[in-house]
Amino acid sequence: MSRGPSRALGALPTFPAAYLCAMIRPIVAYGDPVLKKEAVEVEPNDPQLPALIEDMWETMYESDGVGLAAPQVGLSMRMFVADGSPFAEGEGGDPSCKDFKRVMINPVLFDLSEEQSTMEEGCLSIPGVREPVKRPVRIGVEYYNAEWTLVEEHLEGLAARIVQHEYDHLEGIMIPDHVPATKRMLLHGKLRDIGLGKVSVDYKMRFPKKKGR
Ligand code: NI
Repeated sequence: MSRGPSRALGALPTFPAAYLCAMIRPIVAYGDPVLKKEAVEVEPNDPQLPALIEDMWETMYESDGVGLAAPQVGLSMRMFVADGSPFAEGEGGDPSCKDFKRVMINPVLFDLSEEQSTMEEGCLSIPGVREPVKRPVRIGVEYYNAEWTLVEEHLEGLAARIVQHEYDHLEGIMIPDHVPATKRMLLHGKLRDIGLGKVSVDYKMRFPKKKGR
């Protein structure tokens, strides 16, 4: 999930030294089939996992995101990273995002509240597009963390929204899928241009239909 242009930049989290050797991976743009697939469960001893987690943090912070799912770096794996702390800063900050920094592997959502709220969301794979998305206000989530400990927690507010947005990526669901069909027509041209790489973006991306790659 992207922070959106209306947010002040604020202080970015500082990287521990270990992150300096992490690699920024290109973010896959809308239109790539990996984003439409249901992602595959992660195995406990997956040897690529530690480096992937470091790379995903690095990639997410570099692009000013608050969440990044593995399919967005081209890997069909059920995991994502999220750091909502930029939303907790300043006046009117969301308390649910204070210290909300998580790696969630094989997450399962439960106890979705009947109460819903609508808020504009952005996505690093769909630069320049922000659309209102209606979601449950409170959720439960069970997942393995980076140390492969099973964690269960209840979330609300923006933290719950970020988790639902990233979880959607593991199911092949993206913001346009939440947009009513009538309005989706208006988005069509913009989404096609993004797939073709006809979009201005200041982080590294991989465009599925860009000519002359
Ligand atoms: Ni997204």
